[in-house]
Amino acid sequence: MIIGNDVKQWQSIRRQDSVDTMLGFVPTMGALHQGHLSLVNRSLQENDKTVVSIFLNPTQFNDPKDLSGYPQTLEQDIAALETAGVDVLLLPDFEQVYPDNYRYKLIESEFSQQLCGASRPGHFDGVLTVVMKLLNIVQAHNAYFGEKDYQQYVLIKEMAEAFFLRTKIIACPTVREADGLAFSSRNARLATGERILAPFFHKTLTQDMSVDSLKAQLESYGFKVDYLEELSGRRYGAVYLGKVRLIDNVAI
Ligand code: PAF
Repeated sequence: MIIGNDVKQWQSIRRQDSVDTMLGFVPTMGALHQGHLSLVNRSLQENDKTVVSIFLNPTQFNDPKDLSGYPQTLEQDIAALETAGVDVLLLPDFEQVYPDNYRYKLIESEFSQQLCGASRPGHFDGVLTVVMKLLNIVQAHNAYFGEKDYQQYVLIKEMAEAFFLRTKIIACPTVREADGLAFSSRNARLATGERILAPFFHKTLTQDMSVDSLKAQLESYGFKVDYLEELSGRRYGAVYLGKVRLIDNVAI
């Protein structure tokens, strides 16, 4: 696996690639888990080469404590990507990705203001801006995103269409632990009691009940509900267990 942190060097390597080489891309913020590895494996199956990026993007964190508490496991991440058979790992730093110091932003004005966007002001500006930058750097044919972050996936897919990007945006199913909890880098921060309670979030979301009854049920278990809403055939939720914020969604 080639590991590179120089964006300009990557761009020149990319220009030398044959036009027939199918390239898949999986952008991540590290702390890799089985959800990420399912995206990587899908990319490895569908492309000649797979590029993964690890970049803990500060502009998508509205809460500095959330950023400083984000798990960082670079050595294990590199080992997992090597074992999976990834071709290139990009590890850019802030200056490489933001030579403009975030003076330029990509802002969506409707869906990004709802659900997670309503609770985390500016979050999707940071996500869309960094994903646009990474897609432009990597110039892949296909890029893979997990359905756990369904709102993020929809916004990125629609951004790619709106800006006529050549990269195809592909959604991959949420990967869950045996008890139904969606894999997330944040799960590592759950205390033992919180981890036991956490699967009841997904179990509750799948029940045939009104949104108000679902909220009441989650609160009776001990979750603090950030939001629970049904939109366009999907039920979306975000809850807190202690300081840890979990999100999930199911088709309805
Ligand atoms: O889903 C994530 O890990 C991040 O939001 C992404 C897409 C890598 C952008 O930083």
